[in-house]
Amino acid sequence: MCGIFAYTGSNGKNAAKVLLDGLVSLEYRGYDSAGIFIPEAGVIKTPGAVGALRKKVPKNFKGKSGIAHLRWATHGEPTEKNAHPHWSGDKEIWVVHNGIIENWQELRAKLISKGHTFVSDSDSEIIPHLVEEHLKKHKNFEKAALAALNEIRGTFGIAMQYKGEPDKLIAARMGSPIVIGVGKNERFIASDASPILPHTKKVVFLEDGEVAILTPDKHTVLKLNATKIQREPEEIEWNAEQAQKGGHEHFMLKEILEAPLVVEDTMRGRLILNKGTSKLGGLDKVEKKLKEIDRIIIVACGTAYLAGLVGEYMIEEFAGIPVEVELASEFRYRKPVVNKRTAVLAISQSGETLDTLEAIREAKRQNALTLGIVNTVGSTITREDDSGVYNHAGPEISVASTKAFISQLVVLALMTLFLGRQRKMTAAQGKEIARELKKLPGKLKAILENEKAIETLAKKYSHHRDFLFLGRKYNYPVALEGALKLKEISYIHAEGYGAGEMKHGPLAMIDENFPTFAVAPHDSVYEKVLSAIQQVRARKGPVIALTTEGDSEVQKIADDVIYVPQTIEMLSPILNVVPLQLFAYYFAKEKGLNVDRPRNLAKSVTVE
Ligand code: AGP
Ligand code: GLU
Repeated sequence: MCGIFAYTGSNGKNAAKVLLDGLVSLEYRGYDSAGIFIPEAGVIKTPGAVGALRKKVPKNFKGKSGIAHLRWATHGEPTEKNAHPHWSGDKEIWVVHNGIIENWQELRAKLISKGHTFVSDSDSEIIPHLVEEHLKKHKNFEKAALAALNEIRGTFGIAMQYKGEPDKLIAARMGSPIVIGVGKNERFIASDASPILPHTKKVVFLEDGEVAILTPDKHTVLKLNATKIQREPEEIEWNAEQAQKGGHEHFMLKEILEAPLVVEDTMRGRLILNKGTSKLGGLDKVEKKLKEIDRIIIVACGTAYLAGLVGEYMIEEFAGIPVEVELASEFRYRKPVVNKRTAVLAISQSGETLDTLEAIREAKRQNALTLGIVNTVGSTITREDDSGVYNHAGPEISVASTKAFISQLVVLALMTLFLGRQRKMTAAQGKEIARELKKLPGKLKAILENEKAIETLAKKYSHHRDFLFLGRKYNYPVALEGALKLKEISYIHAEGYGAGEMKHGPLAMIDENFPTFAVAPHDSVYEKVLSAIQQVRARKGPVIALTTEGDSEVQKIADDVIYVPQTIEMLSPILNVVPLQLFAYYFAKEKGLNVDRPRNLAKSVTVE
């Protein structure tokens, strides 16, 4: 995830100004480093966001066209050398890229053997070198670009420029969004429409596998196999802020709807289907140590802690390693019994949560192996842990964590495969989990198609002041997360409980004004959760229940039912949490609250 913005015009505008102004509205997409290239003026790159870049750009930095980038690092630290644009060996081809090139190592080795040298650690740097190589043969920028694009695998949104034809830009899309802006004597390429909108409302959305060739007064859309496509520009009504949110009213909704893509991005290049295992680059260097650990302590806060609880069930069941999950704020102040055969695993979206960071520091002091599951590349936890895995979920803007939780669960499942296969998990078992993981994006899409029904439900219940969420086993943490989401953005009293705990206290609260949201998929504790629903019913409590498609029992005892596709038990939280996130979102929206910025909270809690 990153922000791309490129411009070519013949109407006297200064491309550097257009690009720097436009980048600001893309800052939500990435902000660890930034860069700009203007053929007439040169290249400027810096760690930091647009503000830092602006400071480095001199007054006379001017030109008619150029490309710019805000990075959200996936490969290589967020430093100046790794920032985009990247260039070819002869400094003729310039590229900004959003996404991950899966076969970059293979291509890089091939290019090195042909004499190319690389200056960064970014996967993206191979693109300009590849185009340079093809340009030698084809002597034509478009043909060379197409040949290079056909060689790379993975996800990309790309804008590139050739110094030999400075008014021409080439854009390409595979999995990462690209919008083309069509103005009067000017054309734009951007990751979303927001930086284009102050100039023109006419845009062309590229589809996956498409390429666009732009000059100030012409644009052509092609397929990767060079066949031309006729596509008329469309007028968009969005304002710049709506555009950043993909036209949605809030980042939270946009982020929930990204779930299928996030699961794909988190798994990309990591799942080895035919061996029933996973390859997690970050864990390679501690592979041997991981074989020797006999205990894992997961430390985290809030939603990340709840992901950890699911991880405990996964790892214990399939890898057979004892796991404890602890609130980081507790762990750091007690005297944990930890040794070098203990792995302390921090889970954190931001990688900056102070309590989690301090827990890792404490674990390090006690010689534990410290690991991280972190979304923000280059954040403090990733710099201090011994080793870790990135989520690749893209920046999460809404304070309420949604897509990061989902990607944390996916990483935990991948880790379970890895640790399990190092131990007693059979290849057949590993393959089944891997196959089911692969099917999740499609199932998530199906759940999200049901969004309207959940909206209606949230409206129906939005007058209530209290809510109980119930779940059991793998879906107990899901119930806790459903309650946390509702508390956090709706400011109402919501409690999450293990369905088996009802009779030990919470049942006393239930009456006709106290609704329960029960998570009851077809798993090994389905009937137990059904009994808990019966207990609520018997006290006249209204019930919303989530169950598996095809179920005919739950509708007999619940007031409202949400159906989700079947998957294996260990992965069911990844599907089941989505309706709960949508429920909380629409509940808060109905109450007219500031969904993305709930009162009293901050996205990243860097204080005690
Ligand atoms: C989640 O919706 C919350 N905003 C909060 O609980 C969050 O998960 C917690 O503060 C941990 O943050 P981190 O993942 O960045 O460490
Ligand atoms: N994979 C590229 C990098 O790490 C691009 C990341 C992005 O989308 O910002 O440089």
